[in-house]
Amino acid sequence: MRCVVTGVAGFIGSSLADKILQNGGEVIGIDCFIDYYPKEMKERNLEKARSFDNFTFHDSDLNSLDLAEVCAGVDYIFHQAAQAGVRASWGEQFSIYTDNNILASQRLLEACRSEQVKNSLKKLVYASSSSVYGNAQTLPTTEDLRPQPVSPYGVSKLAAEHLMGLYSQEFGVPTASLRYFTVYGPRHRPDMAFHRFLKAGLTDTSLTLFDDGEQSRDFTFIDDVLQANLDAAKYEGSELVFNIGGGSRVSMNQVIEIMESILGKSLKVERGPRQKGDVKHTGADTSRAKQGFGYSPKVSLEEGLKAEADWLEQVVLKSGS
Ligand SMILES: NC(=O)c1ccc[n+]([C@@H]2O[C@H](COP(=O)([O-])OP(=O)(O)OC[C@H]3O[C@@H](n4cnc5c(N)ncnc54)[C@H](O)[C@@H]3O)[C@@H](O)[C@H]2O)c1
Repeated sequence: MRCVVTGVAGFIGSSLADKILQNGGEVIGIDCFIDYYPKEMKERNLEKARSFDNFTFHDSDLNSLDLAEVCAGVDYIFHQAAQAGVRASWGEQFSIYTDNNILASQRLLEACRSEQVKNSLKKLVYASSSSVYGNAQTLPTTEDLRPQPVSPYGVSKLAAEHLMGLYSQEFGVPTASLRYFTVYGPRHRPDMAFHRFLKAGLTDTSLTLFDDGEQSRDFTFIDDVLQANLDAAKYEGSELVFNIGGGSRVSMNQVIEIMESILGKSLKVERGPRQKGDVKHTGADTSRAKQGFGYSPKVSLEEGLKAEADWLEQVVLKSGS
């Protein structure tokens, strides 16, 4: 199994690369270390992959690399690279989102049309997002609901998802878009709530909880997302878009309670206003992924939060970052 993983230094991309390498596959990783969070965290994410002989790394931007050459002869492409983050996507920064989420995806799709790539490529799996739904009218949400993103980030993820569909239909590029619902676990991005909250708990500092805490999310543990990628890559049916959720919807107030029981202490919670672009609830109907490629999330929120807390304590806090 010869794979390209874009965004390979990030939270999900690096974890996926490790899993493929551990299973005996070959990984060609691409990442340009965009400065959304510190490079040293991304370098740490890459340490394990770098220890494998069948890992090669391109410290390059998808918008300038010769992608047809790099992807020549590969079986699978796992496209995880993006500028993440809902709240930072307003204003002038939006061009960062159009460059890294839309234009980079379109370049990758064009490369997939080239002879060198299309003859071997079995699937391009794209990391889409539940943010494409916006404030969904029905919960749990099925893929057929009309997407109505409420953040520029969601718009950029949806635009790339539409490009995946278009290139599938017009040029036969075999794509599958996985709409991830809030992914968490070891290597979690430092801007994400679980990372910030658990770190605050472990260091006895205060955390800011936006809105009234009754907003809820379908949280998905990283291992379930990795398995979904590997299984979706083998899917041969005609569906192009799949929800990938964790299996239950929990409010942020409930999350705080679970964290307090895991850490054995009260968290110092300060309240902040609702942030523009944040949706009130997300919930995934994952029947299509289950039917298509046997998707079935295995890790409970309690287990997953414990694993993230252990990683924060053993790795992040010990290294001082
Ligand atoms: N983490 C989540 O909860 C979540 C939820 C839904 C969707 N997603 C999607 O999953 C994917 C991975 O998210 P993550 O949380 O691991 O983010 P991340 O920021 O940790 O990783 C993304 C990586 O992509 C790289 N990158 C960005 N633009 C690039 C470019 N033009 N060329 C090369 N590399 C580039 C970045 O440097 C970064 O290392 C993203 O596409 C994101 O939109 C994540």
